[in-house]
Order: sequence, then C-alpha cells, then structure tokens
Amino acid sequence: MTSSTLLDGNQLAKTLREGMKTRVASLTAAGCNPRLDVVLVGEDAASQVYVRNKVRACAEVGVASEVHRLAQGAGEAELLGLIDRLNRDERVHGILVQLPLPNHIASQKAIGAIAPGKDVDGFHLHNVGALVTGQPCFVPCTPAGVMALLDHAGVKLEGKHAVVVGRSNIVGKPVAMLLLQRGATVSICHSKTADLGAITRQADVLVVAVGKARMIDGSMVKPGAAVIDVGINRLADGKLAGDVDFQSCLGIAGYITPVPGGVGPMTVAMLIANTLSAAEQSRK
Ligand code: GUN
Repeated sequence: MTSSTLLDGNQLAKTLREGMKTRVASLTAAGCNPRLDVVLVGEDAASQVYVRNKVRACAEVGVASEVHRLAQGAGEAELLGLIDRLNRDERVHGILVQLPLPNHIASQKAIGAIAPGKDVDGFHLHNVGALVTGQPCFVPCTPAGVMALLDHAGVKLEGKHAVVVGRSNIVGKPVAMLLLQRGATVSICHSKTADLGAITRQADVLVVAVGKARMIDGSMVKPGAAVIDVGINRLADGKLAGDVDFQSCLGIAGYITPVPGGVGPMTVAMLIANTLSAAEQSRK
C-alpha cells in the first residue's frame, strides 16, 4: 500500500495568487491597470459558476474584470462586434469567451476573432500553433495548471510514460503537447480506445479529462502513479465527482488531485497569470 500524496490545488493556487500581487503592483505603478474581459453568452449553469470564480479571483489579486453578458439568442455578428471592440480597447489586456457557446454560434469563429495577444485562453490558432512548435505563447489555463501541480510536487516527467485520457482542444491535446515538450512519452486515449485500462496501467503520469464521473478506478492505475483529475461532474444527488474514482485510487496512486480543490483553482490562477503576461507584453 502506497501512501497517496494529495495535490492541493487550492493551496498552490493561493500561493501563486499571492506571488502575482507584486506583478500587479509593478504594472499599476507604471500606470497600467491589468484587466480581463469575459464574454458570457447564454445561461449555461456551469459557465455562470466558472465566470463568477474567475471574477472573484481577479478581484483578490487586484486585476480588474468586466463581464459582458449576451442573451442565449444573441447572433454571431453581435458577438464578433463585441470581440472587435474589446480587441481595439487598449484598457483591455485579456479577452476570454466562455465556452460552450450556444450551438448557432461557431466557437472557432469567435475564438479566431480574438487578437492573439489578448487570447489569454490560448485557444486562437496562432497560440495553438506556437504551443505545438514550442514557441512563446499563451498556454491554455487548465493544461498550464496541471503542469504547475506536477512541478510543484516534484513529479519527474522526462522519460516517463504520461497517459492523457481525453482529446479535447481545451485540455487533452494541449496537455499532451506540454508533457511531450518535457520529455515524457505520451499516449492519448479517448472514448474509442480499446482496453483503456491496459494503457492507463502503464502510466507514470495519468491525466484524465473526459467528463465522465469516476470512469477511472484504482484497478486502472499503476502503483505510485501521479493521477491528475481534470473532470468535474455533477452527480444525481447534487454532489461533485471527478473523472477519477478518488477513493479507490487512494493507497495506489503516489499523487492524486481531489475534486473539487485540485485542478479547478489552478485553471483560474493560470488565467490571471496569462492576463498579467498580456498586460506586461502590451507595454513592450
Ligand atoms: N469552458 C470550460 N473550460 C473553459 C476554459 O478554460 N476557457 C473557456 N473560455 N471556456 C471554458
């Protein structure tokens, strides 16, 4: 029986936010008030919570934020017009369009309209291409948070087998790229993967981002592995559960993130870090 070390995202995010206050102070002293603008279209319940958390974290660090709410039925032209206005507004350093968007709006079109230098989510093709080719870019917030948790715990990546479950543009693909850049051998699994457990059991580092409650249990985890659970699922009883069955992995995983309190707060901390970088770069 291994004793599993908890990767406490709440604690690390708090420490990182404290550190960011000096960056905010330098910017402010130079006459630049860092600001993040968030665009929220429609009434998606989870999105409302995420946006509220982002605004609260900005306030705590001293970053200004504005939320632009558009109705569920808002047209694509209205959204693109707003993004254009924010692109041209020098007071705005970061722009985030909360996903998912209503079905009648093409997400890629909206993301592609954001000025790459203000794309603090790192979703614009300019930033995606820069990430894949190892050039400076805005790294997507959740993948950046995953890497920060692993680094903070001192988990070695070079030469290790990292298995990513999930192939989304927001998490799976970019986190796989970051792990690859750090010298891990990376496997990307997904809903069509045959015998998933046979692959996850080889993982020294296992990152799960599929959006299915408790789909990875202890029998699918290699003893001593670092298990990062990106999932956050609402159960029928109202409780939150990750994509990993936390209880059954305790004593098997060497490191494991709780849900909530693991990756979630790290995503928000990385968003603020990216906004500060955008503000700093706007002055160069
Ligand atoms: N929806 C779920 N995660 C994210 C994220 O990281 N950024 C945005 N914009 N929307 C999301």
